[in-house]
Amino acid sequence: MELPQHLAIIMDGNGRWAQARGLPRIAGHQQGVRTVREVVKYCVAAGIAYLTLYAFSSENWRRPKEEVEALMSLLATYLDNETELLTRNGIRLNVIGDMTKLPDNVVTMLRKTMAATATNGGMVLTLALSYGARDEIVRATRRIAADVAAGRLAVEQVDEDVFATYLDSADIPSPDLLIRTSGEMRISNFLLWQLAYAELYFCSCYWPEFDVEQLQSALDDYAGRCRRFGAIEAARAEEKENSH
Ligand code: FPP
Repeated sequence: MELPQHLAIIMDGNGRWAQARGLPRIAGHQQGVRTVREVVKYCVAAGIAYLTLYAFSSENWRRPKEEVEALMSLLATYLDNETELLTRNGIRLNVIGDMTKLPDNVVTMLRKTMAATATNGGMVLTLALSYGARDEIVRATRRIAADVAAGRLAVEQVDEDVFATYLDSADIPSPDLLIRTSGEMRISNFLLWQLAYAELYFCSCYWPEFDVEQLQSALDDYAGRCRRFGAIEAARAEEKENSH
């Protein structure tokens, strides 16, 4: 059965999950961390090579100060508690987004956890933090412009492959499957470049109640899809045949 090599997830609905239960929004985020734990373990067991989670968007900074602080503190605690579990499962931690905007203690924890897991050879877990795809593309473009201005890169050399090496995601392949929870059917500035050919899967439940059965349903659904990458089916089948 075909498994996505790279699964990306927009974990949405923590706030609504909490509000529906008369709880503060942060209780939804706390419950959301439990789902993260289960999903990470399941992906390792299933053999997913890359898992990318949208944990904090560049737009999330506009939320009330208390919620932003609580989310940052949850993240730091997660990294602190989970390093051993990550290593036990062979997971390597990676980050995309504008790290310069994150609080010092979170950056320190991220650096520490990335260094501690750098030699792990299993699944690559990428957290998108202070991440916005347009911001990522603009930052990449600036670096390209700087390299061109400095004579390190010729304008004619800039093609899709070269451009991709300037993105935060330079070291990871594009996602094959995107899951978004909470019933919203949009991409919300997540991996706009990288999702060009991804299969999209929307699930109505809120992130805190998303579980491994629902994840497996998404993987089953993906396995039944026919990906053509703009080619016609026969050409794609032939290409697959030749690649074996
Ligand atoms: C969306 O729900 C979720 C977030 C903005 C944050 C996701 C963060 C976590 C699950 C916890 C920390 C992450 C890790 C990797 C440890 P929302 O608040 O937008 O929900 P709403 O749309 O119902 O308001």
